[in-house]
This record gives sequence, structure tokens and C-alpha cells, in this order.
Amino acid sequence: MDLSTMANASGMDSLSSSSSASPAPAIDLRDVDLSLGAGAARVHVLKGVSLAIAPGETVGLVGPSGSGKSTLLMVMAGLERVDRGVVRVAGVDVTALDEDRLARFRGAHVGIVFQSFHLIPTMTALENVAVPLELAGRPDAFARAAEELTAVGLGHRLTHYPAQMSGGEQQRVAVARALAPEPPILVADEPTGNLDEATGRQIMDLLFAAHAARGTTLVLVTHDATLAQRCGRTVRLRSGVIEGHSAAVAAKVEA
Ligand SMILES: Nc1ncnc2c1ncn2[C@@H]1O[C@H](COP(=O)(O)OP(=O)(O)OP(=O)(O)O)[C@@H](O)[C@H]1O
Ligand SMILES: [Mg+2]
Repeated sequence: MDLSTMANASGMDSLSSSSSASPAPAIDLRDVDLSLGAGAARVHVLKGVSLAIAPGETVGLVGPSGSGKSTLLMVMAGLERVDRGVVRVAGVDVTALDEDRLARFRGAHVGIVFQSFHLIPTMTALENVAVPLELAGRPDAFARAAEELTAVGLGHRLTHYPAQMSGGEQQRVAVARALAPEPPILVADEPTGNLDEATGRQIMDLLFAAHAARGTTLVLVTHDATLAQRCGRTVRLRSGVIEGHSAAVAAKVEA
């Protein structure tokens, strides 16, 4: 079945509130501090951030430009190391992993979607999705990649290169690449920021479909209040500090 069909059929946030037995958080940040840059350009980006996200939750991360949303997302994805504090992802203390283990951990546990797609320009759509699977040792990498691309509606674009695809198609390839290893956690940094509204909605439908079908924990950075409100919870960041949490319905989103 097509992923967006599944999303529409199943009530996309049905898994958001199913954490009654309080399982270990999918993402657990404690007192995280992080500065970036050197010398005069050094910025204290995250200041004592603590945040727990339950498995299967959908969280919209909002806040003004420069408040640290992307940095926080990169910390959650294990792409940025913290100066202080604890970062547990899927129950694993990622601050204790060396680069090799961290890369393998990421490959298995965290899917990442960026605003600017980040596809490899010299690879076809199929190769872009299959290569991470091959690196993870999946013998069925190409078949699995074709399946995932078909699920995002790109079965007819397998041999196209990124430059031969529209922005929406490129982002669908990036979504297929992130979802193909079936990671329990998916983080997305303004995934619709470079797309028109209708195309952006298709991309969001795909992300929420993965959440609905597989229970994927979804953390989404967005400036779009409507998108944030599709999430079960909104977390607001300001100047590197978590300013508040709110249920999506009551969320007052700052763009
Ligand atoms: N490598 C770096 N060196 C120095 N400062 C940095 C670096 N990366 C980010 N910063 C600073 O950290 C702050 C937070 O950046 P971040 O990209 O996380 O913000 P953001 O909330 O995602 O903003 P936007 O909504 O504009 O994407 C910004 O003030 C930025 O200038
Ligand atoms: Mg950002």
C-alpha cells in the first residue's frame, strides 16, 4: 500500500499517546550544553537543554531563527557532539560511542531529512537510497530501495539523477533514503522549507505515514504553524533554552 494512503486511513497521530507504561524514552537529553565556532565567533548554542521524547511520539520543534533548533536536532541524530550532559538515543548513551560505532548506530536507529535534500548528485535515485542499506550490510539493498521509492510514488524515477528531478521528487528520494532502513527515529529539519505548499504537504504525509505504519518517533523542525500542529507535542526553543512544551492544539508557534 502507498504510504500516504496508509496515513490517511489510519489516523496519523494514533500512536502519539500510547506510552501508558512509560517505556524508556526514544530520545533523552539531560542538561545538554553545546558551543559552536571558535574565538569571537564562538556561540553558546544549547544551554542546559533537557528533553525526553517517548517512542512513537511526534514532536514539532519550533522557535525563532538562531534559537538552536537545527543544532538540537543534530545532537539528537548523533551528528553533533555535546560539551556537557547526557544524550541517550534508543536507550544508548551516544556520547560514549566512538565515530565508527556512532555512524553504525545512526545508520540503524536514526533517519535524517534535511531542508536541502542532501542527495548525492552523481548517484541515481535508486543508488541514493540503496547505498546506505548496502553499507549497513543489507543483501537486498537495491530491491528494498526500489520498494521504498515506489512507496513514495517514485517507482518511475529510479534511474533519474537528482538534477533530473523536481524539488519535491528529490525530497521524496531523501525521505525514502531515511525510511528505507526502517529506523525507529526520524528527525527532519524544515523538510518542506524549499517546497511549495502542496508538495510540502505530500512530504509531511509521507513522514506521518511512517509514524502511523511503523510507530516511528518523529521530531520535526518547522517554522510552519500548521505543520507543527500535526505533531502530538510542540517544543519551543529560544536562545538555546527550552521555553515550553505544549499540546499541538494549544500551540502558539513563533515563526
Ligand atoms: N559552526 C558554528 N559556529 C558558530 N556558531 C554557530 C555554528 N553553527 C550554528 N551557530 C550559531 O548557533 C545558533 C543556532 O543555530 P541553529 O542553526 O541551530 O539555529 P536554528 O534555530 O536552526 O535557526 P534557523 O531557524 O534559522 O534554521 C545561531 O546563532 C548560529 O549562528
Ligand atoms: Mg535551522
